[in-house]
Amino acid sequence: MPGIIVVGAQWGDEGKGKVVDVFSANADLVVRYQGGANAGHTLVVNGVKTVLHLIPSGVLHPKCMCMIAPGVVLDVEEVIKEIRDLKAAGVLTNPEQLRISDQCTVLLSYHRKLDAARETAAGNEKIGTTGKGIGPAYEDRAARKAVLFGDLFDRERLKQKLESSLKEKNFMLTKYYGEEAVDAEPLYARLLELATELEPYRSKDTSLVIHKALKAGKKVLFEGAQGTMLDLLHGTYPFVTSSSTISGSACIGTGIGPGMMQKIIGITKAYTTRVGSGPFPTEMNAELSERLRTEGGEFGATTGRPRRCGWLDLVALKYAIRVNGLTSLALMKLDVLSGHEKIDVCTAYKLDGVEIKDLPVNSHDLERVEPVYRSLAGWNEDLQQVRTIQDLPQAARDFVQFVATEIATPIDVVSVGPGREQTLWIKPLFA
Ligand code: IMP
Repeated sequence: MPGIIVVGAQWGDEGKGKVVDVFSANADLVVRYQGGANAGHTLVVNGVKTVLHLIPSGVLHPKCMCMIAPGVVLDVEEVIKEIRDLKAAGVLTNPEQLRISDQCTVLLSYHRKLDAARETAAGNEKIGTTGKGIGPAYEDRAARKAVLFGDLFDRERLKQKLESSLKEKNFMLTKYYGEEAVDAEPLYARLLELATELEPYRSKDTSLVIHKALKAGKKVLFEGAQGTMLDLLHGTYPFVTSSSTISGSACIGTGIGPGMMQKIIGITKAYTTRVGSGPFPTEMNAELSERLRTEGGEFGATTGRPRRCGWLDLVALKYAIRVNGLTSLALMKLDVLSGHEKIDVCTAYKLDGVEIKDLPVNSHDLERVEPVYRSLAGWNEDLQQVRTIQDLPQAARDFVQFVATEIATPIDVVSVGPGREQTLWIKPLFA
């Protein structure tokens, strides 16, 4: 069963989009299974940049079918914009290339409004969300009040669901947050318009399609969004997103059993970044952070916010290997580390003076840990032109080897730039 899960092993923004795009050259189907337009997956092909928020990163390969599975919260305004932009760029010319599950939760304007109102009200305690309405949309799903994508095609049901949902939402918005109410009529009319435009992409049962593809031996990639440390249950709660970001979510979000998965590939940068609030043990001082942010272009693809930067954290990475059951890793953005005299790698933490090797799962403890670093020699060469592992400078190879040995998990891929050609294979994906 060639099901392969690609999952972020850090706090998101690891480069999953590039990896999925490169892997998609040999895949039949790519499936997004959780999160929403809070994700920003950047692909660079022949110097042209495409940023995707909801549509799977296989879309630039015309023969690769793309699917948005029930676990995704679907911002219908965002997805239509993405579809139009792709079509304008000559991509997604065949509507059959994209399938959106009828079971997806529809994310609406009131979710975005509630997200923003809550963050403002939280002041210093805010999570630093992307403001895309992700939390409120997942809440609706859990409360069994969500509008589903399939509801857009049933006028009566849609109307009734919107009215019932807005009663509660408008009470919260106006009476609790002092915001303006959302008017049901224009929202309903807009959703009917969008339904017409989105109908060609509709799928009644994506699980069935994926299941059949896997049974037929087709190669299916499951594309994660965000990263392990932002997982609702296993991340740095409460500074997390509202979905499960770990590999198990690929099964839950799609309705495919774990037995159909063959590999689980974790994506990590050669250093660490985080956007938003919350513990970050290896965060660098302002000067180093600024340097890495500039050299690595570390600004949010969705919000443009500057990312916080830090050294590679092997304690957190080993945790990601454990909770995801990673079978191998892709190590991204190695080129960004060029020009540092020494490169620090965190191999343990100290908590209350005691050295620990396992990540404390409680955020309050994680906030207090001090990283224990191993300093490795840096290199000055520009890695962006390197095309094979053997051609990397010795110090860069030693860095990769050190990481692989410490985490006792193979590294299959090393990336030295945003382009497809800047991908160094240690082991081919579909070997
Ligand atoms: P939300 O997902 O918008 O609710 O944001 C919750 C937390 O997850 C915030 O710290 C965000 O910065 C973070 N987050 C959400 N999506 C991403 C992503 O795609 N990359 C990095 N961080 C993200």
